[in-house]
Amino acid sequence: MPDRSLNADTVPAAGPHDVPKAQQAVEERLIDTVLQSFADCEDPRLGQVMQALVRHLHAFVREVRLTEEEWDKAIEFLTEVGHITDDRRQEFILLSDVLGASMQTINVNNEACGDATEATVFGPFFVDDAPRIEQGGDISGGAVGQPCWVEGTVRDTEGSPVPNARIEVWEADEDGFYDLQYTDDRVSGRAHLFSDDEGGFRFWGLTPTPYPIPHDGPVGRMLAATGRSPMRASHLHFMVTAPQLRTLVTHIFVRGDELLESDTVFGVKDSLIKDFVQQPADAPTPDGRELGDRTWARARFDIVLAPA
Ligand code: BEZ
Ligand code: FE
Repeated sequence: MPDRSLNADTVPAAGPHDVPKAQQAVEERLIDTVLQSFADCEDPRLGQVMQALVRHLHAFVREVRLTEEEWDKAIEFLTEVGHITDDRRQEFILLSDVLGASMQTINVNNEACGDATEATVFGPFFVDDAPRIEQGGDISGGAVGQPCWVEGTVRDTEGSPVPNARIEVWEADEDGFYDLQYTDDRVSGRAHLFSDDEGGFRFWGLTPTPYPIPHDGPVGRMLAATGRSPMRASHLHFMVTAPQLRTLVTHIFVRGDELLESDTVFGVKDSLIKDFVQQPADAPTPDGRELGDRTWARARFDIVLAPA
């Protein structure tokens, strides 16, 4: 179990219990006053959330004995996060992702339900008008990478097949970029398809490879300053929707990838790690596709959707 307390050797200031009683009383009086300011909030949920935020924020300020210079820096940082955010780039979500707050929100809202497939982060690279492919189609759209046959089923938690589920898939190319990150208007590495009458699906994609989150902004600088890597473990994104069932946003990860333990957005869950089995160039493909002298891989992902 990691030690969640601050390291007294490296933290210059004391925590709130090490300050004189009179000072503690001043700090606590302020917290009470701020909490009281939200006491008459008409929306009880909003009042609850704001009061909890105040309690935790003040606990943080008091625990680290935040200096005024540090407060200035924090404001400067958040201002930069705001300035770089536009309708193509969402640095606030990225910040939430690298702090584990996105993943914790997903955990809180997607409690285990039978053997339902686990959810993970959405990420910034989904688009909702990706092309449709038929069963066995190719999502790569010309993106570079090793061809990968992906197949599986969609079922509910009773084990019944879910036909006609909408399956969105998207991924980066072998160079670590999504189509959206190129300046041309290419559409590649993404598509949607529908499960067949038995809940089955199959398509050609690319064997996932590792890539960094966008790290040329304030979040990237924070990672560098704290000695953290911007790399994500190799993955293939899925979003699966079907009537009366909980929408699943998830990825599958590549067993053996050395980044599984250090995914910078904490998105890896054991159940989502799959075998991407390498195939020699002369191995016959499942659908008879000719790949010439190219090797390929295959992976299986059986999806279970929770009730809505
Ligand atoms: C991604 O999966 O592509 C991603 C997820 C979270 C933050 C940045 C990128
Ligand atoms: Fe991704």
